[in-house]
Amino acid sequence: MYGSQSQPCLQGLSLIFLIPLFFNFHISYGDVGTAALYSPPYLPTACYGSNTSQFPSSKFFAAAGHGIWDEGAACGRQYFVRCISDLTLDACNQNHSIQITIVDHMGQEASVPSAYNTTMFLSATAFGTIANSSTTSPHINIEFRQ
Ligand SMILES: *[C@@H]1O[C@H](CO)[C@@H](O)[C@H](O)[C@H]1NC(C)=O
Ligand SMILES: *[C@@H]1O[C@H](CO)[C@@H](O)[C@H](O)[C@H]1NC(C)=O
Ligand SMILES: *[C@@H]1O[C@H](CO)[C@@H](O)[C@H](O)[C@H]1NC(C)=O
Ligand SMILES: *[C@@H]1O[C@H](CO)[C@@H](O)[C@H](O)[C@H]1NC(C)=O
Repeated sequence: MYGSQSQPCLQGLSLIFLIPLFFNFHISYGDVGTAALYSPPYLPTACYGSNTSQFPSSKFFAAAGHGIWDEGAACGRQYFVRCISDLTLDACNQNHSIQITIVDHMGQEASVPSAYNTTMFLSATAFGTIANSSTTSPHINIEFRQ
């Protein structure tokens, strides 16, 4: 009697814990990370070499950090990115959310970024749209989702 009542309860509990895990791995609803600025030259990229047609017309693109590179599967993935805070406290333009495309891999990019080991490196246009590019903050804190 007692056993048959506690069993469904346990199954319900494990479902509650498994569902967020599943969604975290497959669909991200606003993960928090960091982004640095990287400036030209952008070619060649780890994803598409020297092909100049790879960049979106918006010029919103990025190099993936090791955490999201996914052994190259990140190439072409799109993320919504928003600046949430920075070290100087006034560089973020929090009202702007932009959609970026991954074209490169951190460490293989052709230019020197403003900081290393961030979630992603944003192109100058992308970075300058969500934050003040002249900031002395080497990286910004971002919210991002695929
Ligand atoms: C460059 O990229 C475009 C779009 O992805 C593709 O259609 C084209 O074939 C590529 N060109 C070369 C030379 O690979
Ligand atoms: C951001 O949006 C809010 C609400 O729409 C507005 O009050 C604020 O002035 C905006 N800030 C900037 C920096 O545009
Ligand atoms: C990036 O992080 C890795 C591991 O945490 C570390 O070994 C490496 O030195 C870091 N690179 C830079 C340039 O800070
Ligand atoms: C951007 O940052 C620089 C350096 O901190 C500052 O001088 C400039 O006024 C800022 N621009 C805007 C639009 O906030």
